[in-house]
Amino acid sequence: MATHIQDYRSPKVTIIGAGNVGGTLAHRIVENGLADVVLYDIVLGKPQGLALDLMQTQAIVNHDRQIIGTNNYSDTQNSDIIVLTAGLPRKEGMSRNDLLRINASIVKDAISQAIAQSTEAILIVVTNPLDVMTHYAWQVSGLPTHRVMGMAGILDAARFQTFIGMELGISSADIRATVLGGHGDTMLPLPRFSTVNGIPITELLSQDAITKLVNRTCNGGAEIVKLMQTSAYFAPSASAYMMVESILCDRQRVVPVAAHLMGEYGLTDIFMGVPVQLGKRGIEKVIELQLTSDELAALHASAKSIQENIKLLP
Ligand code: APR
Repeated sequence: MATHIQDYRSPKVTIIGAGNVGGTLAHRIVENGLADVVLYDIVLGKPQGLALDLMQTQAIVNHDRQIIGTNNYSDTQNSDIIVLTAGLPRKEGMSRNDLLRINASIVKDAISQAIAQSTEAILIVVTNPLDVMTHYAWQVSGLPTHRVMGMAGILDAARFQTFIGMELGISSADIRATVLGGHGDTMLPLPRFSTVNGIPITELLSQDAITKLVNRTCNGGAEIVKLMQTSAYFAPSASAYMMVESILCDRQRVVPVAAHLMGEYGLTDIFMGVPVQLGKRGIEKVIELQLTSDELAALHASAKSIQENIKLLP
């Protein structure tokens, strides 16, 4: 007997790069029952092993999504979302430009193959340098701009929230922080738009204290690399998960992501961190905050450094 249940297709998320961020993201997605997951990696055996490990977890905890590990892009066909985490981390002696060129070639290869299998997908880029790789992935993909975005702002805001919470001795769950701009030294944490349950932190902390928290946020990634000799992955995967969930469940959450700007904030044809509304179409709306002239100047400086790097793309 035919029922509507037979027509139901589980959402499908492909994660390219079965490394630390990719693996923990897959774990979050299946344990929350959000979607079926395909883990792709260039290394033979790695995604298959990870998928088996995750499937065996199902026998213990309560989840039952399909997980496939593969070295073949045909398995990624008809994905609703593609999350790109493939890339090399920066190693000692490697300049940011060296990293940019290496990761650009990985992005080109991965995106052209993955999008050929899933022409309707929404693309979330995690690979660094984030804003430039998102721009390049968009160019290679040929997708409309509302279906391409980079994950950074949620992570940077989470870091700012954490440091504010540590300073005030209160739960970071009650703090909302706003960070705009590029994912790097030039990011722009905005104290005026960062609140403890609606109270701006500018009313709760001295300017000196805020400056220290802002600086720590801007170096939040490097602080972790220095401590554990590899880049963070729990908070990055939690951030990517929030984006995937808002899209698949059409939650219309307002979150900062690297989005394509066409005149917003006085910037054109650049991907960088701004608040957006995320729903089933991808970026449903870019939200423009009213910035002071100093804040706007800092945002434009951040944009300039991204534009310089875009010139280095092949
Ligand atoms: N195609 C598919 N996968 C690839 C390719 C490729 N061409 N090149 C490398 N990979 C895979 C690696 O085999 C590895 O499994 O990408 C994965 C990257 O995983 P990690 O080295 O563990 O890196 P991770 O910490 O997950 O970070 C991934 O996110 O935060 C950024 O800067 C970080 O760009 C990096 C990315």
